[in-house]
Amino acid sequence: MAQLWGGRFTKETDALVKRFNDSLPFDQRLYRQDIRGSVAHAAMLGKQGIITDEEAQTIIEALGGILADIESGKLEFTDQYEDIHSFVEAHLIDRIGDAGKKLHTGRSRNDQVALDMKLYIRDEVREVDLLLKHFLQTILHVMEENLDTFMPGFTHLQKAQPVTLAHHFGAYFEMFRRDREHLSSLVLRMNTCPLGALAGTTYPLDREFTARELGFDIPTRNSMDGVSDRDYLIEFLSTLATCQMHLSRFSEEVILWNSNEYRFIEIDDGFSTGSSIMPQKKNPDIAELVRGKTGRVYGALASLMTTMKGIPLAYNKDMQEDKEVAFDAIDTVKDNIRLFDGMIATMKFRKDVMAASAKNGFTNATDAADYLVLKGVPFRDAHGIIGRLVLYCIDRNCALDDLSVDEFRKFSDQFDEDIYEAISLETCVEKRLTEGAPGRASMERAIEASRQYLEDKTDAER
Ligand code: ARG
Repeated sequence: MAQLWGGRFTKETDALVKRFNDSLPFDQRLYRQDIRGSVAHAAMLGKQGIITDEEAQTIIEALGGILADIESGKLEFTDQYEDIHSFVEAHLIDRIGDAGKKLHTGRSRNDQVALDMKLYIRDEVREVDLLLKHFLQTILHVMEENLDTFMPGFTHLQKAQPVTLAHHFGAYFEMFRRDREHLSSLVLRMNTCPLGALAGTTYPLDREFTARELGFDIPTRNSMDGVSDRDYLIEFLSTLATCQMHLSRFSEEVILWNSNEYRFIEIDDGFSTGSSIMPQKKNPDIAELVRGKTGRVYGALASLMTTMKGIPLAYNKDMQEDKEVAFDAIDTVKDNIRLFDGMIATMKFRKDVMAASAKNGFTNATDAADYLVLKGVPFRDAHGIIGRLVLYCIDRNCALDDLSVDEFRKFSDQFDEDIYEAISLETCVEKRLTEGAPGRASMERAIEASRQYLEDKTDAER
């Protein structure tokens, strides 16, 4: 009998029920956390005199052996065990007998699983944070190299005003920085130890001790909440969903920019794929797949929110459903960040195409209007004059910069030779020097601040 609860049962579990109920196939990935929690619990039981010091020592050593045997592949996760907690405990009892049977004093699988998941998520938060930090370094590098790479800024996918590639990437820097900020605040909020459930115990457990041993700030303030709280996981999934949304928007731009119509970038061969029929094709599959995987990451969040919404206090088996979706979302987002990082780091930017595109889309029309305003024309009138000039250019298939001064003066006698300087791409961008704008001086300040931010340690890194 591999079950922990055989005592009050007279019949074997139905095979389908066993398969339906078991979680070992997916919670085996919590083995490190489970063993770590048991080591801390055993040490505490010994310290409190609930078991003897020798028993505690025997348990801790045997747990170390089980850990080593799992890692070396000597101990396999065979399907007679229900979950990772039973697996570890059954093997412990196999190895050391009666002392092993004492480990479960003053705890339940419900606080074990709550603990394991929290320990696991705490590690994953840090890992995702590290991946994002690396990705931000890659983005920052592109920014540093492209302070003068002019391109159109878009609204409604229509060319609006000229910006630089550094500025455009700076917007993504901010998005992924916010994702990291969510992770950092989550680390602080989730740092409470759930060991010692459901209604507390009558044994003199030292919950402060186990909390400290496991690197938590404090034990959970309410034992019922401790075993039934998955808010931190929902917050993590929400951050992952937001991060994935950012990746998906970025993907969308990579796909557009890589198209024959834009040709702003070239994706490295290592990060694109070909067509089985059309030899000329180099497809942005990776960006498309990242965009496509957004659905399953959102799905994980929606799934857990829905699972949790009808659960009365405290633990209910529904909560076992938190794992598969969470693991899938975590694996997916981590892979996507790595892939995107590599794709951006190896991507070529066609600076000439970007600049030509910025030139050809009347992105300097606002600056032309501002030029007239400086000469005393009211903005609304200036807007009308430039609008008519744009129409005139569209008819002739040329840019504002291509007109002669005489042509300009047909629309307003305020135009002079200095109009060319005023509406050149360089001027249009360089004049934009407000905080957060694409002008060189503003961007240099932004890059310096971003560099500093990446040097400082965040709460998730500490
Ligand atoms: N496998 C369970 C889960 O993941 C562990 C807790 C089981 N507790 C119980 N009372 N059946 O939620």
